[in-house]
Amino acid sequence: MLYPPLIKESMLKQKTYSLQNGETIDLSFANQLDLEDIVDIQEDCYNGVAPWGRVAVNSELRNKRSSFFLMCHHQDEAIAFIGISMRQDSFHITNIATRPKYQSQGIGSFLIEVVIDLAEQTDRKRVTLEVRMSNEEAKRLYRNLGFQDVRIKKNYYHNNGEDALDMVYLVNGMEAGKYGKI
Ligand SMILES: CC(C)(COP(=O)(O)OP(=O)(O)OC[C@H]1O[C@@H](n2cnc3c(N)ncnc32)[C@H](O)[C@@H]1OP(=O)(O)O)[C@@H](O)C(=O)NCCC(=O)NCCS
Repeated sequence: MLYPPLIKESMLKQKTYSLQNGETIDLSFANQLDLEDIVDIQEDCYNGVAPWGRVAVNSELRNKRSSFFLMCHHQDEAIAFIGISMRQDSFHITNIATRPKYQSQGIGSFLIEVVIDLAEQTDRKRVTLEVRMSNEEAKRLYRNLGFQDVRIKKNYYHNNGEDALDMVYLVNGMEAGKYGKI
């Protein structure tokens, strides 16, 4: 079986992002030392409760053949991350979060665009994700970036039985038909 190319630091075409006030955000791949920051960013976003706890994040950080995280830092502060599970033909976004005080400045969009570029460089056909039906901000962000609605997964989230929306981005505009629509 032919495996897609491994993800490498040199594949990051842009390692900084400029905020509107001119300040710079640094982009890097996460390692195990970033575990506490990834949990802390989630706690900042979700009223103190990280949906992906230490055990889950740690196992993803260790498993470099099948997952990776990208981190954004402003000066010494970790302010955003995106988590990816790598599959043969696709990347799956497992989690993305930007600290509330840094939201709506394009950082989430930047992280997703970097992931789409890495998917393209490693010959993946799709970038996929699930989002809570009630998360309008996130759905708008994904649709603005070219993600399409695929299907609703009923009662997907254990904590409150909420439905999930499955979304897909087709790398290089692969035809949408076979993934269907809601
Ligand atoms: C969803 C989330 C990650 C988005 O992160 P973000 O860094 O705020 O993302 P962006 O700034 O790229 O996009 C958000 C908004 O800012 C706008 N924006 C983008 N660039 C901008 C800029 N330079 N200046 C001002 N606004 C900008 C976007 O258009 C978008 O606004 P819109 O939705 O009204 O069109 C963030 O809201 C978050 O962490 N939420 C909590 C966790 C969560 O729900 N994660 C998703 C789980 S599926």
